[in-house]
Amino acid sequence: MTRVITYGTFDLFHEGHYRLLQRAKALGDYLIVGVTTDKYDMERGKLNVVDSLPERIENVRKTGFVDEIIIEETQGQKVSDVQKYHIDIFTVGSDWIGAFDYMKDYCRVVYLDRTKNISSTMLREQNKKIQKIGVIGSGRIANRFIPESKLVSGVSTQAVYNPHRESAERFAEKWEIDAYDDMDAFLEAVDVVYIASPHETHYEYIKASLEHGKHVLCEKPMVLEQKKAEALFAYAKERKLILFEGIKTAYCPGFEKLLGIACSGTIGSIRYIDACFTKLEEKTSRELSDKKYGGSFTELGSYCLLPAIKLFGSTYEDVRFDVVRDENGLDIFTKASLAFPRGLATVTCGLGVKAEGRLLIAGTKGYITVEAPWWKTTYFEVHYEDASRVDKYSERFLGDGLRYEIRDFLNMINGNNKSEFKLTRGESTAMAGIMEKFMAHEKRPAANGEG
Ligand code: CTP
Repeated sequence: MTRVITYGTFDLFHEGHYRLLQRAKALGDYLIVGVTTDKYDMERGKLNVVDSLPERIENVRKTGFVDEIIIEETQGQKVSDVQKYHIDIFTVGSDWIGAFDYMKDYCRVVYLDRTKNISSTMLREQNKKIQKIGVIGSGRIANRFIPESKLVSGVSTQAVYNPHRESAERFAEKWEIDAYDDMDAFLEAVDVVYIASPHETHYEYIKASLEHGKHVLCEKPMVLEQKKAEALFAYAKERKLILFEGIKTAYCPGFEKLLGIACSGTIGSIRYIDACFTKLEEKTSRELSDKKYGGSFTELGSYCLLPAIKLFGSTYEDVRFDVVRDENGLDIFTKASLAFPRGLATVTCGLGVKAEGRLLIAGTKGYITVEAPWWKTTYFEVHYEDASRVDKYSERFLGDGLRYEIRDFLNMINGNNKSEFKLTRGESTAMAGIMEKFMAHEKRPAANGEG
């Protein structure tokens, strides 16, 4: 008896899948199909799979070609499956030619011709309206956003707005998109807006975008005043639009896992959180030369506040700031001490002082440590009173990580609100309130424009 194995996601089951399974079965007598789990797809960067695992399995089963279905959960599983299931032939479509030659050490490898002009990606794009993204701002973060957005199916970045025409044009040329210096024309041309302009401009841009009926993904800190955050979220809700603060850590899989472990009781009740993020900047950089809105806390505070707000909640009893300033009066290092009903948090950020960037979550039974760059969480450890016991966890973080927040933003636009818990309106609003208190402490204006 010849035993054959093949693997795939089999999302939005189509003719290409059917023909592949038919021919795979014809290669032998017994066909095993490995269907990928959502988690595995996510890890390998295949975002936005539409059908659930049970649906995808059912569709494979219904073809009648398959004798056994298994699930593919990890990279490297194929080699062990081939041995475990005594496989004679490993087969996949011709889009993978060469990729599985290493399997020849274990069995025969057959690449079957791929059916032309059909793929799950194509169907996913046909099924959903492609959201045309317009980017406001053309600086460093906007430049990181575009390649990441290309990895999420269902969105296409098509326009950039910058009041300085030349900057918009330079950016547009680089990314082959359209340049605008007229806000109304820009908003007419797009479905959703990504805001990556200086902090103090966010409020007016969000307001204008929502007024034009556009969903908004805004870089952190979204706004620097609690009332403005409340007003914007209320208005977005009234207009049935998504307003989403882009703190990428909140959407990355490693951080999600970390929160899950922290909340699971493994380290007992959480009583103390210490988050530090430093990034040395040139004195001439915008971050260290904008006397009103620059400095460490407005730049990095959102990342450090995130674990505290996620784990202790949005209600705090007290927040105090200690600041080291440069000759311009800007904070080159800031320590915020927060008291919550359930525990304490210390947040330290520096653009002009280097320190060990680390996240510590301490509980009544143990503690979790995450080394820098903890804001792109990939690895963390859980320690206990018994120092010989250490639990280690790891998770993938791909590229610049913006793809995760873009995916969640898109899911919410498409009516799948499963990601809302990752950064709630209440949490975003609480962070805006802390930013406001910091600006008042520094005797700086919270933001331009009317509130
Ligand atoms: N396949 C095929 N012909 C197609 C599409 C897929 O023969 N037109 C094969 C693939 O080569 C693979 C199997 O079907 O062996 C499962 O592929 P999968 O990745 O699930 O399907 P795609 O349509 O290629 O999915 P995506 O667009 O998400 O990559």
